[in-house]
Amino acid sequence: MNILILGSGGREHTFAYKISQSKRCSKLFVAPGNAGTASIATNVELKVTDFEAVKKCVIKNNINMVIVGPEDPLVLGIADYFAETSELKNVMLIGPSKRGALLEGSKQRAKEFMLQHNIPTAAYECFTPSSVEAGKTFLEKLNPPYVLKADGLAAGKGVLIISDLNEAKQELENMLTHSKFGKASSKVVIEEFLDGIELSVFVLTDGKNYKILPTAKDYKRIGEGDTGLNTGGMGAVSPVPFVDEILMKKIEDRIVKPTINGLLKEEIDYKGFVFIGLIKVNNEPFVIEYNVRMGDPETEVVLPRIKTDLVDLLEATYHQTLNNINIEIDERAATTVMLVSGGYPEDYEKGKEILGLENVEVSIVFHAGTKAENGKILSDGGRVLAVTSLDKDFRIALKKSYQNIEKLTFDRMQYRNDIGFDL
Ligand code: AMP
Ligand code: GLY
Repeated sequence: MNILILGSGGREHTFAYKISQSKRCSKLFVAPGNAGTASIATNVELKVTDFEAVKKCVIKNNINMVIVGPEDPLVLGIADYFAETSELKNVMLIGPSKRGALLEGSKQRAKEFMLQHNIPTAAYECFTPSSVEAGKTFLEKLNPPYVLKADGLAAGKGVLIISDLNEAKQELENMLTHSKFGKASSKVVIEEFLDGIELSVFVLTDGKNYKILPTAKDYKRIGEGDTGLNTGGMGAVSPVPFVDEILMKKIEDRIVKPTINGLLKEEIDYKGFVFIGLIKVNNEPFVIEYNVRMGDPETEVVLPRIKTDLVDLLEATYHQTLNNINIEIDERAATTVMLVSGGYPEDYEKGKEILGLENVEVSIVFHAGTKAENGKILSDGGRVLAVTSLDKDFRIALKKSYQNIEKLTFDRMQYRNDIGFDL
């Protein structure tokens, strides 16, 4: 079959890498893609939120399956658009409906869903511009630090964790009345701070059945020792070594099953990935967020460990037959280290030539923000490359990634030297 992947990051290059290995795939397209995807698929220049352009691309290239990488098109309803458009309704789109995507598109909705289905999460209340004062009173009742979350999509920047009460009150006002995060903060969820260690669980569901994919832990801060500004993710490790069978059973029973059953009960069409952000407090798992897609850079460590043909898995997802397929996981650990542009996550320059790609051995280099121009590979984003390695021991996998990073350079290249430091 012909397959189209929407998106342009390391996540999408990893999907393309796995799918290009499948005998089931005849022609592979990535839109808009990057220099990495161009080397194994055909890139198509379009905006992933321009559904008309996606439709044209699907028809022109006889696409049978579309995999949606990022959240924006999902939250805007690309799955509903496909279902309602006669020329597209038989195309296998992998991604939840708009109602399903609201689990990521609205923090308030996610919290209400968890409450409704008894899924453990931090206590919370939601406030609007007309209830700023009530929000401040609520803050006074909580213990620091205070967690303020913009309700809508804010490109991963909409969560503030503040230790000072007055500053928290001020930020609440900035979010609600001064649109600190634009429309996304016209509602704010204030929640109890959970003190623990984070991990993520990935689930593939057809809306009835599910498969639990490997766990992963990402490193969001720019600086070593988890310091400095938040980024999209600076590296990841899979599996998460501290997740034993007991914790995994709690996660499955208390979180994964009620989530899938909740979708079913509420008659939400959901054929795609659920990325569950968790925090472990004294060995008890709590949900901090849902994402309705795979993570980046988590995909770069999760997908390389899946041995089952990905196209078979996704086809079963679309046909709601995931219960009939076995998923085989590589026992080895996977690690990835992100190489980013100097200055990221604040201002940075693009267009720097990347050298040394041909010297990488053993590791896999997934392109995140790159483009090919006149035979050269140039940086084209904050996150530029993800260097993934596999080994029985995650520490050795990390060593392989770092050894290969030595061979790669571009002007002002930056990375964290301590991925996995806390494991
Ligand atoms: P979110 O976008 O909801 O994942 O939040 C971003 C980050 O804020 C998370 O990865 C956590 O590190 C942190 N965070 C969110 N909610 C809480 C909470 N209730 N307690 C502690 N940390 C939190
Ligand atoms: N790495 C976090 C995310 O993809 O949201």
